[in-house]
Amino acid sequence: MASEQSVEHFKGKARLPVFAVPKRYDIHLKPDLVSCRFAGAVRVSVDVVADTRFLVLNAADLSVKESSVLFKSMASSSKELHPLDITVVEVDEILVVQFDEVLPHGVGILEISFEGILNDQMKGFYRSTYEHNGEKKNMAVTQFEPTDARRCFPCWDEPAFKATFKMTLDVPSELVALSNMPVVEEKLDGFVKTVTFQESPIMSTYLVAVVVGLFDYVEAFSPDGTKVRVYCQVGKTSQGTFALDVAVKTLDVYKKYFAVPYSLPKLDMIAIPDFAAGAMENYGLVTYRETALLYDEHHSAAANKQRVAVVVAHELAHQWFGNLVTMEWWTHLWLNEGFATWVSYLAVDSLFPEWKIWTQFLDDFTLGLRLDALAESHPIEVDVNHASEIDEIFDAISYRKGASLIRMLQTYLGAACFQKSLASYIKRFSCSNAKTEDLWNVLEEESGEPVKMLMDSWTKQKGYPVIDVNVKENNLEFEQTQFLSSGSLGDGQWIVPVTLCCGSYSAKKKFLLNTKSEKLDMGELKSLSNGESNLLGRGNQQQGGRFWIKFNVDQTGFYRVKYDEVLATGLRHAIEANQLSETDRFGILDDSYALCMSGKLTLSSLLSLMTAYREELDYTVLSLVITIISKIVNVAADAVPEMIDDIKQFFINLLQYSAEKLGWDAREGEGHLDMMLRAELLTALAQLGHDITKEEALKRFEVFLNDRSTLLLPPDTRKAAYLAVMQTVNNTDKSGYESLLRVYRETDLSQEKGRILSCLASCPDPIVVRDALNFFLSPEVRSQDVIFGLSGVNREGRDVAWIWLKENWDHITKTWGSGFLLGRFVSSVVSPFCSAEKAKEVEEFFASRLTPSISRTYKQSIERLGINAKWVESIKGERHLGEVVQELAHRKF
Ligand code: BES
Ligand code: ZN
Repeated sequence: MASEQSVEHFKGKARLPVFAVPKRYDIHLKPDLVSCRFAGAVRVSVDVVADTRFLVLNAADLSVKESSVLFKSMASSSKELHPLDITVVEVDEILVVQFDEVLPHGVGILEISFEGILNDQMKGFYRSTYEHNGEKKNMAVTQFEPTDARRCFPCWDEPAFKATFKMTLDVPSELVALSNMPVVEEKLDGFVKTVTFQESPIMSTYLVAVVVGLFDYVEAFSPDGTKVRVYCQVGKTSQGTFALDVAVKTLDVYKKYFAVPYSLPKLDMIAIPDFAAGAMENYGLVTYRETALLYDEHHSAAANKQRVAVVVAHELAHQWFGNLVTMEWWTHLWLNEGFATWVSYLAVDSLFPEWKIWTQFLDDFTLGLRLDALAESHPIEVDVNHASEIDEIFDAISYRKGASLIRMLQTYLGAACFQKSLASYIKRFSCSNAKTEDLWNVLEEESGEPVKMLMDSWTKQKGYPVIDVNVKENNLEFEQTQFLSSGSLGDGQWIVPVTLCCGSYSAKKKFLLNTKSEKLDMGELKSLSNGESNLLGRGNQQQGGRFWIKFNVDQTGFYRVKYDEVLATGLRHAIEANQLSETDRFGILDDSYALCMSGKLTLSSLLSLMTAYREELDYTVLSLVITIISKIVNVAADAVPEMIDDIKQFFINLLQYSAEKLGWDAREGEGHLDMMLRAELLTALAQLGHDITKEEALKRFEVFLNDRSTLLLPPDTRKAAYLAVMQTVNNTDKSGYESLLRVYRETDLSQEKGRILSCLASCPDPIVVRDALNFFLSPEVRSQDVIFGLSGVNREGRDVAWIWLKENWDHITKTWGSGFLLGRFVSSVVSPFCSAEKAKEVEEFFASRLTPSISRTYKQSIERLGINAKWVESIKGERHLGEVVQELAHRKF
């Protein structure tokens, strides 16, 4: 019995005990934006459901005086109990309140007053800074997910302890005060006003939010009358209208899709200048980085616009998936994030069909595949034993693999059945919590398919298979093994929904592969395709000249495919004859790239395959080509430095066709994807050192310096120009760098600042890279943005970046040490290296510096480094690579 235990009993536990559960919170907060402190009081209605002399809840970084804690039992004629003792267990972030008698069962009210600091760590209750009329000011903001509500008020800070919340704020009278619900009362008392908000429906603590500061807003109503507002800095409201419009329409899309309306009376979305994540789905008060909410007609790029739409759609998806139905524990985080990611594509597709966003989904898909090809990956359903482990699982596994598995399952079950099941899941678990299994059960009931058995193989073990396909005699044989980028053998096995088509998209076959290997009769497949083509009256075997088989049609399955030479050649011809869809062209290239990295395919073969993409014009496919180009350049420069100029020349030639089609200037009536593609192409050519592109870039940049609105350098092509500028910079002539800094300082648009930051460290001169890195740590760069700067370091700068990271490690851990951004420092500096010596050096440095919050990211980075190193060795040993490269570099397309 709990009443016999001591405080010791509650230490070192992953979860809070359940003998008392919160029902309602009445919270009063008084932030002081000048001294950056806050005072607070909370009254929690608690239901005591088992015998206990203790109340155990979360609290961290708060000062709580024993005399301020009181428990009033409502069950036992309002008996007041003063605690015998209170203990704060810092490592476990819990507050243990001990009484000298067993608490009466039933509802009681726990009252606690406390004080805290508005910190600068972008979590809990924190301060963000902005300027108003030239004056520096603070605003107060909350960010609670995953486990930081406890830094603002003592609470049962786990997603399954849902309760209602009634918030009251004391703030300076001239400021805007927002929380999850609408204001019910404002009382003015001199310079202070007391703002009371309506009580919320039941929800988890991580979704509670407060913002206090000076803001303007724009407002609109959704079709069913929900008031939607976008709040931003005074004077910037015109930048809020795009997101507002997206939000209003998206609410309607979800209402129809989930068959449940948005459940709160209002929805506010607000841009916060200092923000660790991209955005946060707080119920009714969604907070965003400025770059993810604000869109400026003249200075935002098409990619910025798309980002805003995707993030808004993602956060609004959480209002159902996450807020209304919440994961039971962080192990099921993917239910929140994987679903929000997947659903956001559905909404964006319905709002902007011309963006072909489902093709772009493959960017997410492939990032999921890449991370999950590491031995240091983790299962989607991951054990969480301590709060410090949670930050790290907001990763490509939970988001991108999660979303990809949902897409795979939806394809398998059919869109209509899937939607119906989701709607019934949402209805059934509204205002409550769910586990992964709960979702499978609903889907299984609605579809009659063995969903749980199928999906367990994907969510309970890490990794995914590669299917090896070979034609042997008259059979098509295939075998699944776990795919690992290192080339090692894994022992996983999956139930794989296999799809394939032969010779035409109407000749399709699908089945579940639930054994290690399987074979199909080739004759049967051929007749399938012949039958089809005869039926349609166009013998595509004759037309394309060759027979082809594409597995994983449309790339909806979370696996890779390795074809034998005959099949691979057939597919290459099919690409050249333009017989395959964008998604399949993407899949073939991405699988080949992954196989090459893991030593299963030569670089020569990969380069030859790439020639089939010379007339590619699809944005997503070409972006992949470009990503692969930059990875190959990185390793080839180490492996075969004598060939690197020829390799680059080949890549420049490969991009010529599309680059010439798009040029620098937008054509009348061109689309969103053209603008995004132009940006990618020019950036890639500038980075490959293409002279003509660089010269043009510099010319246009000169004009831009004198006229920031010049049509010669619209937002989409600026990054290419900035990169070209940084290539002209060296230690003796830093004028280009200084010009960029001037643009950085003069703009007040975060997207523009981000664009510049991502280019500053790309200089070939390491001394300048060092200047840039130091600039990132200066007060001129918000701590949320430093990772953008680091992402711009390229091969020439990577050694300096590593030295810089070591020298500044203490400072960096102090500033970023308590959030997930720290991991990004490690991964972006460590992963690009390609040698065993470097790995050793890195390991030595981190031996004494690892903390739980970066340990997984660190191990993944080291693994990536090792994979690069191995790849370098295998390229070095590749015979005939020189001849192939020679030939390709001089081939005119
Ligand atoms: N719930 C997350 C925000 C979050 C991330 C909180 C990490 C705590 C830790 C939010 O819904 C989210 O996923 N935001 C994404 C943007 C989205 C479009 C993928 C982000 O912050 O990048
Ligand atoms: Zn999310």
